Amino acid sequence: MKFGHFDDAAREYVITNPRTPYPWINYLGNDDFFGLISHTAGGYAFCKDARFRRLTRYRYNNVPWDDGGRYFYIQDGDCVWSPGWKPVRTELDEYRCRHGMSYTIIRGVKNGIEAEALFFVPLGTWAEVHQLTLTNRSQVARAVRVFSLVEWCLWNAHDDLNNLQRNLSIGEVEIDGSAIYHKTEYRERRNHYAFYAVNAPLAGFDTDRDAFLGPYNGFDSPAAVMEGTPRNSEAHGWSPIASHCVALHLQPGEAKTLVFLLGYVENADDQKWDRPGVIHKANARALIERFATPASVAAAFQELRSFWDGLLSRYVLDSGDARLDRMVNVWNQYQCMVTFNLSRSASYFETGIGRGVGFRDSNQDVIGFVHQVPARARQRILELAATQLPDGSAYHQYQPLTKRGNSDIGGDFNDDPLWLIFSTAAYIKETGDFSILDEQVPFDNDERAARPHFEHLKRAFSHTVDNLGPHGLPLIGRADWNDCLNLNCFSTDPNESFQTTSNRAGRTAESVMIAGQFVLYGREFVELCRRSGREQEALEAQRHVDAMVASVLEHGWDGEWFLRAYDFFGNKVGSKENEEGRIFIESQGFCAMAGIGLGEGKVEQALDSVNRWLDSDVGLVLHQPAFTRYRLEYGEISSYPPGYKENAGVFCHNNPWIMIGETVLGRGDRAFEYYRKIAPAYLEDRSDVHRLEPYVYAQMVAGRDAARPGEAKNSWLTGTAAWNYYAITQFILGIRPGYDALEVNPCIPRTWNGFTVTRIFRGVTYHIEVRNPRHVSKGIRRVSLDGDPMSGNTIPMLDPGSEHRVMVELG
Ligand code: GLC
Ligand code: GLC
Repeated sequence: MKFGHFDDAAREYVITNPRTPYPWINYLGNDDFFGLISHTAGGYAFCKDARFRRLTRYRYNNVPWDDGGRYFYIQDGDCVWSPGWKPVRTELDEYRCRHGMSYTIIRGVKNGIEAEALFFVPLGTWAEVHQLTLTNRSQVARAVRVFSLVEWCLWNAHDDLNNLQRNLSIGEVEIDGSAIYHKTEYRERRNHYAFYAVNAPLAGFDTDRDAFLGPYNGFDSPAAVMEGTPRNSEAHGWSPIASHCVALHLQPGEAKTLVFLLGYVENADDQKWDRPGVIHKANARALIERFATPASVAAAFQELRSFWDGLLSRYVLDSGDARLDRMVNVWNQYQCMVTFNLSRSASYFETGIGRGVGFRDSNQDVIGFVHQVPARARQRILELAATQLPDGSAYHQYQPLTKRGNSDIGGDFNDDPLWLIFSTAAYIKETGDFSILDEQVPFDNDERAARPHFEHLKRAFSHTVDNLGPHGLPLIGRADWNDCLNLNCFSTDPNESFQTTSNRAGRTAESVMIAGQFVLYGREFVELCRRSGREQEALEAQRHVDAMVASVLEHGWDGEWFLRAYDFFGNKVGSKENEEGRIFIESQGFCAMAGIGLGEGKVEQALDSVNRWLDSDVGLVLHQPAFTRYRLEYGEISSYPPGYKENAGVFCHNNPWIMIGETVLGRGDRAFEYYRKIAPAYLEDRSDVHRLEPYVYAQMVAGRDAARPGEAKNSWLTGTAAWNYYAITQFILGIRPGYDALEVNPCIPRTWNGFTVTRIFRGVTYHIEVRNPRHVSKGIRRVSLDGDPMSGNTIPMLDPGSEHRVMVELG
């Protein structure tokens, strides 16, 4: 069942039925100022940090879900309605929500009045524009009242939910013409306030929630709106809001546009006040002035659209399959930007109060994003490296506001450091900028301990070498990529977190996944050593990589697939000897990508086992059989009911590891089959089962052991975005940046006739045409550059600014 459709030309998803199975959301803003907005205008905004600088309030686990947001009420005589259907839920004559690239347009029509709201954050601006246009489509003159509503969050979104004994006393506002200022805690340690303004005179306003709603009403029936009379309330404590009331008269055919601005301002300490008790408003007024007219809004909106045109021009596919093209050209790239921006902090599944920027997560996000804005990728890589500890290990997360490692979340996830090599290599391949290796970067944010970035990679590499277990395989530590395989945890107390509770000391539990990761990224490290003139280091590193390959072959092979790990007691995990959890996906993926045992047929055997045991209609599940009871020696993984999350769910993040592994074998049919099973655009018709947005990946889809296989959870912020983009663009379509050139080496379904890609790489535009007349999956028969035959399939670097035609024939 479908609830809308893709508009490919506009790069929008158009929702036409507001009763989607779950809120289908979008993101506004790309740097500093962010908003989450659902298809019924729910959601919230924050600046820089979803926890510490939350502008508007959001209630998690609410009933009904997704109550609270940026609401407009239109009071038209006895009829009160909202353009986004919610919160009033008056049936609309027409409803439509367009989620586009960093903007959302919600339009409702009722009784001949059309209301269209455009929401976006202008580039480089700490504010959201909410532009509302009302048009009288009827034959008679009309008089309506428009009420706006946002509810302020008292900045610290965690305390806002918890510390009511304090919070209900501290709320403060100022009303100044048509602008409502939220200044809670500004009198003391804060140097920032927020405001919500409109470019029209007010018929009234409200800033006290209970006065506006009436103490027993919800957002769906505010007393002030139902009666058509704003209370002109001034909040003192309790729950401050901002609501404007604007009276509009519309002649037949007439349209009027109101520009609302939800903004955030920081003032220097000596410029906080105009006079005692009255905040300094010059910065806010300047911002309000900048967006005071529809013309200035239109210009800023055009700028945002051009920004996205630019970003999405760097990899443009024409495959003849609209679903694939819209994933590759638009939505997957868009999701990569969002995950890059927010790591795992704020979505409709991540509250924005618990998690900061993940070391492992954000390094992986870089691979899907680096071609868009390489300079930001560079900066992020260096910020992550700056939280690395001197022994090469890493804090698991850092706080976006301070950029410092978060000791509450701890460290010792032994896969973490290796991802830094991966992101750095991806950055250098995209840009050719080796200078990043010489950048001075602190350890643990201590400037005195700054060393060249290369040294960070070296310590990341050495951290694995220094932490090998009895089989010469890497110690797993608290966990590897699978946060829930907690082999040293032994938790019996339901009140403690698997992620942070103290672990049993021991140097036995080893991870075959990290071993594969070490081989794969260790080789990149060797290459970086070579290319930066460190021959000796390269030789030594290569020895460690070779030794790891030998250890995996000797102790990490189970006969038909790669083992997953050795547990605390030295028992095998992910072996045919086990009763449950016999085969896991992660080690098959990493050992296959690294080609361990390729020559002896082990990769083929492992991936055939994956196909046999882990494949399902809705994707590859994480392991089989699922754990049916809690296993103390495995930890959180066995705490989930079978089929969910890490307990044999389809964890979409690791499916692309297998896709890439299949391309190592040249099996393009299977690689693409796995791709389409989880790519959201292919699942649009199953939205009633899948439930989440058909334009972005979810982290997890319930696996075949679950009651409702195919039901997704945790959309948007997931490494799935970057990894699927990486798999489809670089390995299946096979257009892959290398250190000195662009390589073309597709691995596609045999039925395909070919495809074309325009790729802008280091300033050069390549129009690449891949032809497949012999219907093979992989293998290059001939290549030409601007019509001249070429040998090999690496396309030399050409003059920046130039355009070239590349023809690749498979066969
Ligand atoms: C979540 C985490 C990620 C982890 C994965 C598997 O997606 O964000 O860091 O690797 O779960 O446990
Ligand atoms: C839980 C989730 C996992 C996530 C972790 C970190 O363990 O299952 O996916 O990575 O929490 O918050």
